[in-house]
Amino acid sequence: MALQIKSFEEYEEKYRKSVENPEAFWADIAEYFYWQKKWDKVLEWNFSEPKIEWFKGAKLNITENIFDRQLSKIGDKKAIIWEPNNPGEQEKNYTYRELYEKVCEFANGLRALGIQKGDRVCIYLPMIPELAVAVLACARIGAVHSVVFAGFSATALSDRVNDAQAKLVITADGLNRGAKQIPLKSVVDDALKNCTSVAHVIVYDCLGSAINKTDKDLSWEEVIQGQPKECPAESMDAEDMLFILYTSGSTGKPKGVVHTCGGYMVYTAYSFQNVYQYEPEDVYWCTADIGWITGHSYILYGPLLSGATSVMFEGIPTYPDAGRFWQVIDKYKVNQFLTAPTAIRSLMAYGEDYVKPYDLTSLKVIGTVGEPINSEAWHWYHELIGKGNCPVVDNWWQTETGGIMISGLGNFSPLKPTFAGYPLPGIQPALLNQDGSEITEADIEGYLCIKAPWPSMLRTTYGDHERCRVTYFSHYDGYYFTGDGAKRDKNGMYRIIGRIDDVINVSGHRFGTAEIENAINEDELVIESAVVGYPHPVKGQSIYAFVVCEHEVTETTDARKRILETVTREIGKIALPDKIQFVSGLPKTRSGKIMRRILRKVAEGDTANLGDTSTLLDPAVVDEIVKNAL
Ligand code: PRX
Repeated sequence: MALQIKSFEEYEEKYRKSVENPEAFWADIAEYFYWQKKWDKVLEWNFSEPKIEWFKGAKLNITENIFDRQLSKIGDKKAIIWEPNNPGEQEKNYTYRELYEKVCEFANGLRALGIQKGDRVCIYLPMIPELAVAVLACARIGAVHSVVFAGFSATALSDRVNDAQAKLVITADGLNRGAKQIPLKSVVDDALKNCTSVAHVIVYDCLGSAINKTDKDLSWEEVIQGQPKECPAESMDAEDMLFILYTSGSTGKPKGVVHTCGGYMVYTAYSFQNVYQYEPEDVYWCTADIGWITGHSYILYGPLLSGATSVMFEGIPTYPDAGRFWQVIDKYKVNQFLTAPTAIRSLMAYGEDYVKPYDLTSLKVIGTVGEPINSEAWHWYHELIGKGNCPVVDNWWQTETGGIMISGLGNFSPLKPTFAGYPLPGIQPALLNQDGSEITEADIEGYLCIKAPWPSMLRTTYGDHERCRVTYFSHYDGYYFTGDGAKRDKNGMYRIIGRIDDVINVSGHRFGTAEIENAINEDELVIESAVVGYPHPVKGQSIYAFVVCEHEVTETTDARKRILETVTREIGKIALPDKIQFVSGLPKTRSGKIMRRILRKVAEGDTANLGDTSTLLDPAVVDEIVKNAL
């Protein structure tokens, strides 16, 4: 593949060049793509506003790079293999040409509905091929897609629709999830009671179930009816918005991370080809959901820009049994596989018998993403799935970074269990002390920051640029602040420790503690609450909520049930606390700040050394909390 580095020595040389002269380095990579007009300037930036512009003045359309640029060569190659939730159901294959036609047809349908360049379109769909079509159709006509994971609740959906002022929502009647069917359209109906910006809702009939039809609804079929299978691509400026993706941070309200066309295209393809060392005949599979950034960058854009065959899976790892991943790898002879540590840990618990029946010898590179991987899971994955001869590439990155930042590359980077590895070319990480000085010594933990721009970094947070500046660029002058803690060994390899801010990573899903607290506090019973994460053997982290209620809560009251219902309504089941402890008060300093450090220790079961509690407003609450800890 054109953008691939083929040895560790070449990596070192490329890395050096990328740091010495980033503009020359990225201009060279960008030549691989089709630009309607080349850039006037490769990079202009400052981290103080922040203002980051890559390939300024260039014109392109990312879907021309997926389709038009490649169709004459790989039009008949499979772009997407769709594996349904139910193993008995027939898979679907889409060649590049077939996918192109579906995208064009739907894009024309969107245009006919009045959707124009810059309009925001909210996509709330299951992992079905129409999700890929909808995303790429938006990109074709320059509409900004905002995909919302189909596990979010009506309230979470309406918050996101309103924040982006979306004109259109694309959804389905419902979705398959293992043995269950889950309604989606009714969630949209609820959400839209509070959204005035939405003119239309397009509904794909996924389950054949009855829906409540409103006057805004159009069926998918109606939208594509009579539409041509060619659609002129909108001409986009390199810095025009490609998409918004909402993600949680340390404040209550999720932020709309904004990615733009040119830099995101260049970096997702570059990182995909190098980390996975994809070869033209290979089959690649990433098990993420397109509702999250991993699905955007490494199911759709990165692989498709590289002409890869990308497997898209509707189901879950444990349906019909815990061998499903391995059966699908065998079925399609998957060569590159990417999943999350939480999935590995959960499947590991079911035992080897679910792996043994399947032939996994097609695998060449296996990846993990989304959270730190523990040593036991790393070895199980490496030895049992990779048979000891596939490199495990541990991909560290974030919604905000758009693409993989630190990782092994294919089979030539040094492997060190639980270490993500080296930065990709163009990525300049730094570890900082609390005072903002850079740590140069080995094996010391620091705040992971990035000191120079890279093409796929976020440009802003939608509708609130100041929030972007404060969250990512104000902690340390001249650095992008990741919110993660990390260590670097004497050879320069990075190990990610985890979040150091008030963000919890549950099964690879990111939540702000304040976001969950706000949800809990919505219940009338609740006066206040504090939420912390604690280690969980499968999920990585779990949610522990300390809740102060109006009246005394006894086992006979339904307070716990009510709180669970409230969180389900406000965010979704994915954010439910595993533990809820009712307390008479929270440990606070005299200035009213909640001492989360103490609550974290309680949640971790480490109450022997809580530190000095004498400065608290009411030290007695700590004794009560410790005594009743769950
Ligand atoms: O804490 C890091 C963790 O996930 C956070 C980013 O979450 P999100 O934006 O949802 O993106 C997830 C997929 C890229 C990071 O701040 N994280 C992600 N990958 C890793 C990781 N922690 C350790 N190792 C990783 N490979």
